[in-house]
Amino acid sequence: MRKISIVGTGMAVAGKRVTNDDLSKLVDTNDEWITTRTGIKERRFCDEGESTYTLAETAAREAIARSGISIGDIDAIVCATVSAEYVTPSLSCIVQRQLGLKEDIPVLDVNAACSGFIYGLEVIRGLLDGSDGKYGLVIGCEQLSRLMDMTDRSTCVLFGDGAGAAVVKLSEEKSYASVLGARGGYEIRVEGAGPVVTKIKMDGSEVFKFATAAIPKCIGALQAKTGISLDEVSQIICHQANARILDHCVKKLKADPDKFYKNMDRYGNTSAASVPMALDELVKLGRIHNGDKLMLVGFGGGLTWAGVLIEYDGK
Ligand code: UT7
Repeated sequence: MRKISIVGTGMAVAGKRVTNDDLSKLVDTNDEWITTRTGIKERRFCDEGESTYTLAETAAREAIARSGISIGDIDAIVCATVSAEYVTPSLSCIVQRQLGLKEDIPVLDVNAACSGFIYGLEVIRGLLDGSDGKYGLVIGCEQLSRLMDMTDRSTCVLFGDGAGAAVVKLSEEKSYASVLGARGGYEIRVEGAGPVVTKIKMDGSEVFKFATAAIPKCIGALQAKTGISLDEVSQIICHQANARILDHCVKKLKADPDKFYKNMDRYGNTSAASVPMALDELVKLGRIHNGDKLMLVGFGGGLTWAGVLIEYDGK
């Protein structure tokens, strides 16, 4: 099986900072409840002029620049999102157009909710292998503020907007043939069901139970497949839904809490964007080095789960 490694990362933070106190003016909630139940202190919403494709483009440009390759080197794009403006063209096709990426490459979105970025890594690995490509761009991007019911205190305090991206490189030789392409045009388009009627609803406590089982399940499966112990992994980067979920898993796994990075205090739950945003922050903090083995773990709507063991091979 051919592998991919991560060679560059980037992210985009939406412009509007929304604190727990700001939300307490909209619904019957308070900073104490949100902080103790979720670990979230604030989140970012898109400002005027921002949207999934501006966030995705910013994150993608940074990831490409930091990987030391040029835009023309990208051989496939996958965006993971549930909140893009259009059903078609896909967010990936819009990014392809904005960045001026070449045409004869596979370009598509995946919807696996909060597991989407990791599903995206697996999809791009197959696409690169199938098209004989070398570098792929995977983006997790959400504008969940478009989908939120700001009168529902059980969900409106949880989510935020943002994007994270990674450039991956296919390694190991193997021949196979396939042809895929895209042009990044608006000629055929279908808008989503619309922000007025499309609202996130969630059975929080059921999802909580699911999440606390899904993370150890993914980690255990990755260990069983590879024989790698958690001591050999430098970071286990999980979907940032709730600090209590991660604390629960650290305890259950008797793991080092420093390996379970958290940034939901500043961004809330950004669904498919949360894992690549955390990854990028860790790289920028100097906590991930070349050759490090990383576990990325996602869980969420679907109900989906996904885990990957991947190496960092950045500049
Ligand atoms: O990203 C996809 C994956 N998603 C997740 O993993 C989310 C998993 N679930 C969770 O993180 C938690 O279940 C929540 C943070 C969503 C909720 O926390 P909880 O401890 O499960 O609270 P709860 O839903 O059981 O509600 C407890 C109480 C209720 O009041 P009563 O019925 O006990 O009187 C709620 O009405 O808290 C109330 N409540 C709130 N109070 C103040 C719910 N939301 C709020 C709020 N502010 N924002």
